[in-house]
Order: sequence, then C-alpha cells, then structure tokens
Amino acid sequence: MFFAVFKDGEGCKSYIIANEACCAAAIIDPALDLVDRYLGEVNRQGLRVRYIIDTHTHADHFSGARALRDALHAPIVMHRFSPAPHVDLHVEDGHSLPLGDMRMRILHTPGHTRDSMCIHVEDRVFTGDTLLIGGTGRTDLPSGDPEQLHDSLFHKLLSLPDDTLVYPAHDYKEREGSTIGQEKAANPRLAHAERQDFVSMMNSLNLSAPTHLTEALRTNISGGKTVRQLLAEASARVPFMAMEELLRRLDTRANDFVILDVRERDAFMQGHVPGALHLPRGQLELRLNEVLPDPSVEVLTVCELGKISTLAAATLHDLGFPRATALDGGIAAWREQGHPLERADS
Ligand SMILES: [Fe+2]
Repeated sequence: MFFAVFKDGEGCKSYIIANEACCAAAIIDPALDLVDRYLGEVNRQGLRVRYIIDTHTHADHFSGARALRDALHAPIVMHRFSPAPHVDLHVEDGHSLPLGDMRMRILHTPGHTRDSMCIHVEDRVFTGDTLLIGGTGRTDLPSGDPEQLHDSLFHKLLSLPDDTLVYPAHDYKEREGSTIGQEKAANPRLAHAERQDFVSMMNSLNLSAPTHLTEALRTNISGGKTVRQLLAEASARVPFMAMEELLRRLDTRANDFVILDVRERDAFMQGHVPGALHLPRGQLELRLNEVLPDPSVEVLTVCELGKISTLAAATLHDLGFPRATALDGGIAAWREQGHPLERADS
C-alpha cells in the first residue's frame, strides 16, 4: 500500500492511498489549494488515480475535486445524498470501490452532514468529519444532526476493530494518528455514549461559524468558483505592467496608450494617475464603445488594490482589446510610493 498525508494551513487533512501492485490510487478529501501537490505526488509515484473522493459536503474549505478531475480524468465520488451536481459516481452504505485487489468499503455515517461517509480500507478508516482525533465533527451546520451522528458513531464506526487506524479530514493539533480503540478510550465526546446525553452535549457546543462557510457551500455544492479562482484565471490571461514602467510611460505618453481607472466615481475624483480615463467596472461593458472607441490601443486598467483591474483587463480581452493589461498593484500602492496623482475638479 502506498499512503501519503497532506495538510493545508487550516487543519484540513487529505490523503492519497494506492495499491502499489497495480498503481491504482484514490485521493480523499482534496483541498483546492493543494491540487498541484497531489498532482506532483501522483506523478512522482507513477500512480493512476481511479477515484477522487469527498467524504462529505465540506462547509469550511474548498474542495479540489473538480480541479483534480480536469487534470486526471477520474470520477468524483460522493455519497448518494450529496447535493453537488458535479459528482460522477454516487455510492451508498456497503458499496465497495476497488483499487486492484484492495477494496475501499463505504460506510454511510450521517450526522456531521447528511452525506457523510467513512471509507474503510484494510487496516485503516478515513473518517471525514464523523470522527476526529479527540473529537467529532460538529452537527450544527447545514444538514447536521446530533442523533444521526450518535448512531453513526456508536452503532457503526466504533464497531470496527480496535486496532483500525483513524484518518480524519481535520486535525487542528498536529496529531499524527490514532486508532478506533484509542478514541474509544480517550475521546471526550465518546464518553457520552448514551444517546440523549450525546445529543445535549453536541447541542451545547456553541461553536462559531467557519470562516468561509458561504463560499465553501456555494462552491462545493453548486460547483461555482471561489473568488481566488476567478482572480487566478483572470491573472493567467492578462499581462501586467509594473509601476516603474507606468512612470516611464507618463513621461513619453504615446498616443496609443490609455490608462483606464475602473474604480467608482468618488475614488477617481479624489486622485488618479495623471491623464487616466474613468470607466467604473460596473459600467465597463455598456459604456466601453463610448469611452474607448479604438480597440487597437494599449489599455492599462487601474483600481484601488489591483484585483478588480485584473478582472477588468480580462473582460477587455474578451471584448476585443488584445492589448489590455493591468497595473501590477493598485492606486493604494501607487499613492504609498508617492507617485503623481491628479484630482478631478468636477
Ligand atoms: Fe466537514
């Protein structure tokens, strides 16, 4: 068996498991930020990824499943109750997925979410957020249910042999491993074995909402993109111009070079790069022909922090301005470095 553990900076854990005899592999609970690392490891080990598995609908991090599918052409696997439209293979309790002669057995373990499942492979179990080391997943987020979690733990997961290794989707305290037996003995939440006791303990946890809750649900459930993805895609499509280069351009001022400030009116009035034209990003498409009649010019987009201008430059490329470029940094940095600003009088 080949086995690799990955951690992101926020306590999320993900795994590659493979049958070395036939090189078939599965990636479990991939994070979007680590996609290049999984691909690097898969290539280094010479593995063929057969399954990309999310143990449940994650509410606190962005799944890398779709990005991996694009790169690896393997199906995205989730439980039948997953609401995500991009799932290719829905599994249910008791199903098995083969990696050569190895079998990954699916245990449906609702509670943290309705679609939560654990994956039992030989000597180990991937517990998602059903069972954590020294804890359990929370049950107060969408589709969570403490009664279901109790049953999933006490009537299903904890019935696995005591020496089964436990690999959860989260660990915030850098612990390397545990077993079902160790959790039964020391996990404080599992001390509440009686159903009603467990439910009231879970209901009284009063946890704060995860940082990226809405964006995670929006992207993981509906298949939308994160804001970072949108920016990264736009950045990959446009060239950038350094501030020093813009300063040089201000001296020589070619007549096929246009600076386009895409901030709102008030911000533009308070100070902009000398000679800049103004077209707020919200009006970009509709007023473009009027403000920029010549599509052959080089257009440099400028905004406060350098993000909206990147999106605007990508839109200009789409609209037929092949020389659109974005200022590397925004007016905030320009101002901070003491470069010239012009104020609008009206
Ligand atoms: Fe979770």
